[in-house]
Amino acid sequence: MSLLTIHPEKAPQQAERFTDFAAISEQLQSIGVRFERWQANRELPVNADQATVIAAYRDSIERLMRACGFQSVDVISVTADHPDNAALRSKFLSEHVHADFEVRFFVDGQGLFYLHPNDKVYIVLCEKGDLISVPAHTRHWFDMGENPNIKAIRLFTTAEGWVAQFTDSHIAERFPGLGEYVAEYA
Ligand SMILES: [Fe+2]
Repeated sequence: MSLLTIHPEKAPQQAERFTDFAAISEQLQSIGVRFERWQANRELPVNADQATVIAAYRDSIERLMRACGFQSVDVISVTADHPDNAALRSKFLSEHVHADFEVRFFVDGQGLFYLHPNDKVYIVLCEKGDLISVPAHTRHWFDMGENPNIKAIRLFTTAEGWVAQFTDSHIAERFPGLGEYVAEYA
């Protein structure tokens, strides 16, 4: 189940919680974040390769590419037995911004996006079927958890847009990681 909680930046333990898709989407829209649910055109085998995953979502991908001017698309997959998963996890765990917007569509598994557009932190638990876009220059971080399970489509406009500029804030340390968050709010 997808989930959104909104926390004052200075009081991480206080939360407004939203579970209804329309309510989540509306709250996120107010901070410029696109949140959609996509349906696969066909059943996907568990070990589907990149081309098969992209083909299954071709209609939705093409619609978004036309709307947003994306130039390329790929699929990332991280599982608990991935040799570099601790390093991959820590790479996205600190608050950062980038000059391009970030789009993820969750083909399988789950992940937690933390958005910090103002004096609040919006935490979005994304699961299979969810698409989220983080606007350019919006402060954010991401947790795939200690035992990651993610398969996601990424869309890119330019290669250089993806250089993360870290804010040097320690705010991420004050908010729960994926495991703790799911235990408390899901
Ligand atoms: Fe990012």
